[in-house]
Amino acid sequence: MNRKIIVANWKMNPQTLDEASRLLDGIAQGFKDADSKKLELVLAPPFPYLYESKKRLPRGIGLAAQDVSFSERGAYTGEVSALMVKNAGCDYAIIGHSERRWKMGETDETINLKIKQALAAGLKPILAVGEKEEGADLTQIIGTQLAKALDGVASLEDITIAYEPVWAIGTGKPDTPDGALSAALLIRKIVGNIYDNYQSENLSVLYGGSVNADNVKSFVFQNGINGALVGGASIVAQDFTKIIKLILNM
Ligand code: PGA
Repeated sequence: MNRKIIVANWKMNPQTLDEASRLLDGIAQGFKDADSKKLELVLAPPFPYLYESKKRLPRGIGLAAQDVSFSERGAYTGEVSALMVKNAGCDYAIIGHSERRWKMGETDETINLKIKQALAAGLKPILAVGEKEEGADLTQIIGTQLAKALDGVASLEDITIAYEPVWAIGTGKPDTPDGALSAALLIRKIVGNIYDNYQSENLSVLYGGSVNADNVKSFVFQNGINGALVGGASIVAQDFTKIIKLILNM
């Protein structure tokens, strides 16, 4: 079995460092003695918890920022730069999450700048793409999102793509395993056209949207899907540990 990747997107949770610390310890406990050849685990807590996360997490668990600034440095009140999160111990950055696209008005052009900032700082971007309405034209929507986000990006070597249909996020109504697989294959086809077959075949593509312990296997054990981006089910240690164990026990 190929190594699977599970990314925990905590979003704007929890509200205190104490709770965050308990969650970190619970997850670390669940991952103890895990075979890192089977699973790459990455946590994306909110910015204020990154340093504590780095301190508490064992070596085998990676850290991601949930976003980075479009700018390298300077007078941008409220922004957090890619280099800051890299220096806080992050390996990855989620970029272009649909909540940022649709709730914060982030455009494909901004996402492109963020990808470039992340790469320049030595972070591996996890680029999220997906359609808003169920049944929409995926070739057109995802094709545009990928072409614009990756404009001027020389190689996919450090990039992971998460297919996250917006209608499946936080709704308890995930895509079907077949739907997720065909979107993942479409993503590979689109990037194969922009780059080449080698990069398309070696790209990691994740599925995200209402993933939980009951359905995670149906998504990630298909050839063509390399793992999952988990939101709601990643902020309760017990639930998330169940997901980790399911992957490790396959
Ligand atoms: P969800 O979120 O698992 O709660 O649907 C996924 C995501 O937003 O990445």
